[in-house]
Amino acid sequence: MSSPVPSAAASTALRIEPLTPAIGAEVSGVDLARPLDDAALDALRDAWARHLVLFFRDQDLTFEQHKALGHRFGELHIHPAAPKDAEHPEILVVHGDDKVEFVAGSLWHSDVSCDVEPPMASMLRIEQVPSSGGDTLFASMYAAYEGLSDRMQRMLCGLTAVHEGEQYYRGRYGAGDLRDGSYPSAEHPVIRTHPVTGRPALYVNEGFTTRIKELPLAESDALLAFLFRHCARPDYHCRFQWRANSIAFWDNRCTQHLAIWDYYPETRHGYRVTIQGDAPFYDPDRRP
Ligand code: SIN
Repeated sequence: MSSPVPSAAASTALRIEPLTPAIGAEVSGVDLARPLDDAALDALRDAWARHLVLFFRDQDLTFEQHKALGHRFGELHIHPAAPKDAEHPEILVVHGDDKVEFVAGSLWHSDVSCDVEPPMASMLRIEQVPSSGGDTLFASMYAAYEGLSDRMQRMLCGLTAVHEGEQYYRGRYGAGDLRDGSYPSAEHPVIRTHPVTGRPALYVNEGFTTRIKELPLAESDALLAFLFRHCARPDYHCRFQWRANSIAFWDNRCTQHLAIWDYYPETRHGYRVTIQGDAPFYDPDRRP
């Protein structure tokens, strides 16, 4: 009979080092290839709620281990448009080299916000890195909300945004692998309440948000252009420099990210597991 696999936290203590005050922390002292015990899971959840995106080094995971890790946080999400491996449809390949015409995530976005129930979280493991470059920027949408004037916050709180997948996915993936037979589209509150922390977060992004329903097109375009610029302020950001077998684990409900494609013609390659979320909501009575 085989002996039980030791859990990740049995003999180690997590160390958490923030990257910036607004967002990001590097976590060490955990082996994510092993099953997480409940204490380690609670500690990671707590750090994640505080720092919004967690980074781990030297995590050499098989697809099964990567999926099992994601599963500890929720059901796995299937991408609505990207090509899928028959055996591992939950794994999204993230790849850039000298032949591709695009790389995933090269516009500011929150993953698949065009889904009616967009992903709660994403866990990306990069296996091959270029000799330099290929960093990812992450932005706190709590900080972006808090950086707006009271008047602007009050105006945005009643508004609804349309998020569409087609303009983003059609040129990248074609229509051959559509999960639901058509490109996703959804309406979400411009400000959403985080279901765990209760904090309000700005929830529009350059990748998927096409208009604000309650405004005439010209006003909607101008307001979205302002908000996209606002989200890109560096004081809301952290920047992660990947090494082979680094993992980033981010909360799509309160962050956006941007993958920098500055390493052409070199190769960057990795795999993302994405965790299902719920329909975004805004609750004016819920405050942290
Ligand atoms: C993504 O949007 O998931 C890709 C991010 C990255 O490649 O850094």
